[in-house]
Amino acid sequence: MTSHPDLVVGLDLSDDAGVFRLPDGTLFLQTVDFFTPVVDSPFDWGRIAASNSLSDIYAMGGRPLTAMQLIGWPRDGLSFDVLGEVIDGGIRVLEEAGCTLIGGHSIDDPEPKYGFSVTGLVQEEDLVRNQGAQVGDALVLTKPIGTGLIATAVKAGTASERLVADAIETMVTLNDGAARAMNRIGVHAGTDVTGFGLLGHLSEMLAASHAGARIEIDAVPLIDGLLPLAETASFPGGSVRNLASVRPLLVADGIDDLMLRILADAQTSGGMLMAVAPSCLDDMLEALAEERTLAASVIGEIIADDCCSIVLT
Ligand code: CO
Ligand code: CO
Repeated sequence: MTSHPDLVVGLDLSDDAGVFRLPDGTLFLQTVDFFTPVVDSPFDWGRIAASNSLSDIYAMGGRPLTAMQLIGWPRDGLSFDVLGEVIDGGIRVLEEAGCTLIGGHSIDDPEPKYGFSVTGLVQEEDLVRNQGAQVGDALVLTKPIGTGLIATAVKAGTASERLVADAIETMVTLNDGAARAMNRIGVHAGTDVTGFGLLGHLSEMLAASHAGARIEIDAVPLIDGLLPLAETASFPGGSVRNLASVRPLLVADGIDDLMLRILADAQTSGGMLMAVAPSCLDDMLEALAEERTLAASVIGEIIADDCCSIVLT
């Protein structure tokens, strides 16, 4: 069964989490995400997996309540002590989020996998969707871009310690502050930037909102040192596919292809992308500063365009 009178957001929409109305009117949020290692440190991988899984709850304007842990582990190939470190990392971040681990499941798996299904709550007036962005809204991004490229460089052994540390810091930072700012100030639409990259998640917002966007490339925050890496490193397959799928929407005359690949880079546990009414923008930027989000960058605006184009300048 995929429909119900109390189902608010289901399978058919590319929103960040499923939404179901409880009898008292509170909205129940449910999401799941798990993946293979993105960094060398088991503890950091656990933290990143938890932060990434929680992010879809925050992206809906919600607060996380409980989590179920999902583990795939090579029983014969990798020590359970290492798994212990992964789980320690995951629990550390759940604690930071005030989210209670209440169960889980593990299977024998030749390739390690880790993640969570998270449930959360949100009041109807605080629910943030992909749809609803309006012409003239400012687009605000709350974390710098570049984690996909850096994770690939980690696997190739070409990322500097400094870059890796910055990428980990970006990925383990919760989007809770951005969610509180959205609750307090209000947004027309919002989503978190993850596997489809900035351009991919923006295009979902635009399709749901029947609008286009203008993005000012120089305003997009990048992890320090990303550009030199991007010039020499190879992009993850996901990022290349991301760009191919949004390319028909792009108006990018004279824009360097390298920059487009960066903007399409598949992110893990990326920031919030919000469409903010111009009248609320100053308050939003102030709220994000108070919440100390890693970035609070106005990267462009929503424009009238039936084709959902993304104009890059
Ligand atoms: Co999401
Ligand atoms: Co997701």
